[in-house]
Amino acid sequence: APVQVKKICCIGAGYVGGPTCAVIALKCPHITVTIVDLNQARVDAWNSKDFDLPIYEPGLVDVVKQARGRNLFFSTDVDKAIREADLIFVSVNTPTKKSGVGAGFAADLNYVESATRRIAAVATSDKIVVEKSTVPCRTAESMRTILEANSKPGTHFDILSNPEFLAEGTAITDLFSPDRVLIGSLQTESGQNASQALAAVYANWIPKERILTVGLWSSELSKLAANAMLAQRISSVNALSAICEATGANIDEVAHAVGFDSRIGPKFLRASVGFGGSCFQKDILNLVYLSESLHLPQVAAYWRQVVEMNEYQKSRFSKTVVDTLFNTITGKHIAVLGFAFKADTGDTRESASISLIRDFLSERAYVTIYDPKVEVAQIWQDLQEACPTTPLAQIQKYVNIVHSAAEACEQKEAIVIATEWKEFLDIDWQHVYDLMTKPAFVFDGRLLLDAEKLTKIGFTVKTIGRGG
Ligand code: NAD
Ligand code: UGA
Repeated sequence: APVQVKKICCIGAGYVGGPTCAVIALKCPHITVTIVDLNQARVDAWNSKDFDLPIYEPGLVDVVKQARGRNLFFSTDVDKAIREADLIFVSVNTPTKKSGVGAGFAADLNYVESATRRIAAVATSDKIVVEKSTVPCRTAESMRTILEANSKPGTHFDILSNPEFLAEGTAITDLFSPDRVLIGSLQTESGQNASQALAAVYANWIPKERILTVGLWSSELSKLAANAMLAQRISSVNALSAICEATGANIDEVAHAVGFDSRIGPKFLRASVGFGGSCFQKDILNLVYLSESLHLPQVAAYWRQVVEMNEYQKSRFSKTVVDTLFNTITGKHIAVLGFAFKADTGDTRESASISLIRDFLSERAYVTIYDPKVEVAQIWQDLQEACPTTPLAQIQKYVNIVHSAAEACEQKEAIVIATEWKEFLDIDWQHVYDLMTKPAFVFDGRLLLDAEKLTKIGFTVKTIGRGG
């Protein structure tokens, strides 16, 4: 029969491990949840007195406030948490490999492997080990081999796949009420019992019909498939946005009309300066690599094009800025509003804003950046990584980071919207216009602003996916 889970350990206190297991703790007061990480600073931030948590996510502080110290704990004592748990989530990072076999495509499974080896080394009782990280299809097989080869006699491991579908910025509402929870297991009695044990944890707040139980490999592949198909919608709409700009069609109207078809649906059809975030590109490249290793080059090429279209969209937008500003931005002053990869997060991983600013800097433009949530130090780090051959001091001669949108917009030649933060709607555009060099330009990479209103004030407005 399925075990009743009483103690959960989560390895990895990041964007996924933190919010996911904090919500489990909140919804399951009878389960003790310990989230562990090797990164002391991160754990200290999770434990901070004034709830200065390491990640910004609307609603997260409330959840942590209710559960921390009750049945939710954050610690760097990985071994103790592993030893005590009946169920262990592995929620470590799986970035794209930077070197070696599959560099630039394959997932780096080093962190998953070391976490798995640690479990094998420390565990003295049976464990359900749950893959929460996004991994290539059949990773659970490797985890099982490692666990079985290193386990103490008499300890038994079941491996489950339970990919996470939350989106940053809406993590807490996504976790409170997910479209579905997916649990993959081996179709053995023991595998199915483990699956039922985890399903019972989620059943504390999620309706049973939304908890899907499938085979291990389907579960692993479904996560890559979901991200690939979501990203594909954005690349599709962005490809159409280029046609709109060239013809005078309007991408908002096209997306609305197309999305009205119930088979297509209205969500996730917003044209943009390009998708960012830690996962879409990484997971698609991972799928490309998987397809290639399976000798399916046409399948690989199909998915690779989703990423290529995204790169094209980002460089196309930079080019629009240069072209519109009379083919040169050298020495011009540009405000970039937004640095996060989407609104309501402080996360900048793969943000389109970084690519735009890199392009502007390569033209020797002066860039002033404002983002409501991103830390200043993070911006410098990202720009240094984006321009590895330029010394930071040189970058800092051209880049200024400020603390309000109003300050960023002062006396610029152009204003670029790179992230769809709501507060940019409240900018006093008449005032901004009055202080700008004329003609004054606004480039809206997020379909955020009221272009008509800005045009009336006197701005020249260029919006993604609108002709004219
Ligand atoms: P993250 O980098 O924010 O967090 C991972 C944490 O794991 C880090 O704090 C790191 O110090 C820790 N860690 C690494 N190895 C460890 C070890 N051996 N022992 C203890 N701690 C260790 O990453 P994330 O954004 O939370 O992503 C985690 C996984 O979830 C990835 O596979 C990602 O693809 C997937 N995912 C992410 C999102 C998202 O929105 N960010 C959504 C769904 C799935
Ligand atoms: C995405 C998925 O939505 C989650 O289901 C998944 O769990 C997660 O990846 C993951 O595996 O990491 P996330 O990257 O946090 O979540 O955020 P999204 O809302 O999906 O946005 C991704 C990017 O696409 C952002 O840059 C966003 O601005 C852009 N986007 C999104 C568009 O350009 N147009 C849209 O219509 C939607």
